[in-house]
Amino acid sequence: MTFDSPRTCRLVGQRVIVRIPEQRDIASIVRHFRENEAHLDEFSPFPKEFLSEAFWRIQVEAQRREFAGDHGCKTFVFEPDDATVIGSANLSVIVRGAFQSAYLGYALAGAKQGQGLMHEALALLVRFAFTELRLHRIMANYMPRNARSAAVLKRLGFTVEGLAQRYLLINGVWEDHVLTSLDNPAWKLG
Ligand SMILES: CC(C)(COP(=O)(O)OP(=O)(O)OC[C@H]1O[C@@H](n2cnc3c(N)ncnc32)[C@H](O)[C@@H]1OP(=O)(O)O)[C@@H](O)C(=O)NCCC(=O)NCCS
Repeated sequence: MTFDSPRTCRLVGQRVIVRIPEQRDIASIVRHFRENEAHLDEFSPFPKEFLSEAFWRIQVEAQRREFAGDHGCKTFVFEPDDATVIGSANLSVIVRGAFQSAYLGYALAGAKQGQGLMHEALALLVRFAFTELRLHRIMANYMPRNARSAAVLKRLGFTVEGLAQRYLLINGVWEDHVLTSLDNPAWKLG
C-alpha cells in the first residue's frame, strides 16, 4: 500500500532536484548507498539496512507518512533527470509549539563532492523549511574534522553554538559534534 500525501515537497534547482522519495526510486536509492558505503560511513550513521531494497520499500512509505504528518521532511537529492539519486537531505524531528524546529542531516555521493551541489540542495530545503513548513530554527551538527560539512553550513549562514561531547555513534565510536543552527528572522505567528 502506498501513502498519498496531500502535501508535496519537490524542489527544482539548476543542477539538482530535492524531493520526497517514491517507490519508483528504490533501485536508485540502493545503488547510491551501495556505491558510497565507504565514503558515507566516515561521517554519518550508516545502518547496513541502507543496502537493502526491502528496507527502503518500507522506509520510503515511512518517510512519506512522516512528511504528511508534519513530523519530518526526509528527501533525496536527484540529478536533473529526476531519477538518479546522488544524495540525501533530511529534516528530522519536527517539533512545533514553542520550538518550531528540526534537525538537518545530509550526505552526497563521493564522486559529486566539491561542486557546490549540496549547497544548492540545502539552500532549496532551508528555504522550503522556512517558507512552507514555517519552521523557526534548523539545527545541524558535524564532527570537528568534517571540514567540508562545516563549510557547507557556514556558507548557508549557520552559526556555531557549541560542542557536544560523545554526541553520535558513528562507525562504532561516540563522536563529538559541533552544534550549529540557523534561525528564520522572517518567522511570524500565523
Ligand atoms: C559534506 C558534504 C555534504 C559536502 O557536499 P559538497 O557538495 O561537496 O559541498 P560543496 O561542494 O558545497 O563544498 C563544501 C565546501 O567544502 C570545501 N571543500 C572542498 N574540498 C574540500 C576538502 N578536501 N577539505 C575541506 N574542504 C573542502 C569547498 O570549497 C566548499 O567550501 P566553500 O563553499 O566555502 O567554497 C559531502 O562532502 C558529504 O556528503 N560528505 C560525507 C557525508 C557527510 O559528511 N555528511 C554531513 C555529516 S554532518
